[in-house]
Amino acid sequence: MPVIDVVDLSKAFGTKVVLAKVNLQVEEGESLVVLGGSGSGKTVLLRTIMGLLTPDSGQVSIEGKIIAELNREELSNIRKSIGMCFQMAALFDSMTVFENVAFALRRHTKMTEAEVAARVDECLSMVGMKDTDKLKPAELSGGMKRRVGFARAIALKPKILLFDEPTTGLDPVMTDVIGRIILDLKQELGVTSITITHDLKSAFMIADRIALLFQGECLACETPEVFKVNPNPVIQQFLRGDAEGPFLQDPPAPKRKAKEASA
Ligand SMILES: Nc1ncnc2c1ncn2[C@@H]1O[C@H](COP(=O)(O)OP(=O)(O)O)[C@@H](O)[C@H]1O
Ligand SMILES: [Mg+2]
Repeated sequence: MPVIDVVDLSKAFGTKVVLAKVNLQVEEGESLVVLGGSGSGKTVLLRTIMGLLTPDSGQVSIEGKIIAELNREELSNIRKSIGMCFQMAALFDSMTVFENVAFALRRHTKMTEAEVAARVDECLSMVGMKDTDKLKPAELSGGMKRRVGFARAIALKPKILLFDEPTTGLDPVMTDVIGRIILDLKQELGVTSITITHDLKSAFMIADRIALLFQGECLACETPEVFKVNPNPVIQQFLRGDAEGPFLQDPPAPKRKAKEASA
């Protein structure tokens, strides 16, 4: 049984169809990367998996439980087993790094303050952020904020980690650091994860399988080696990062002049 099972999932907002019968299965301990252009429905997919959005049709199951059929308490329990790393970290600005990571532990567990402190220390160490516990988010760089966001997401020892564009806005070196941390977390914690990104280098570093979300559908969902040579022209254009091809730009790219094109 897959840990995350997305079956024929469809979601529209008004007349805008965002997801059209998406199917995805993520096995225990597996790292799935979902690629896709801006506005292709990647965040909507994650929010639906979390039960924050309701599918129009189709369903999402986590460990065999259909999300839409759970009551409030069951949903809250499932959510505790999912660590969500939001786009742009979303830390509490008024709290220190320590308080941010401790937040869920204080709220959802009966741990003593000493146990909370030990767990916060452990989580910050795992993302290479030991000794930053007294800082406020405003004092951190973009990459450090993401790492604190990761520490917060793993605090409750989730079975599942969801990363929404963990490297967007970071420089190439920090992007690589974040990719390696995601890989470490997978190896050390054995979590099942979905990572959404348009960064191909980190995608190929962390993925057991890669999918591409395009026009509401999942094109391919296969090992990086197989994905790389998938003949689908949309996939090949995305991999090349080329403006010309079936992967529609909105608005379309201006036609290059003959002189430029041959240069
Ligand atoms: N709550 C919402 N209400 C209306 N439209 C939405 C909502 N959430 C997302 N959308 C639309 O769905 C599309 C996909 O959004 P999103 O999943 O955020 O894209 P991305 O792939 O960049 O994460 C966008 O066109 C967005 O405007
Ligand atoms: Mg998004």
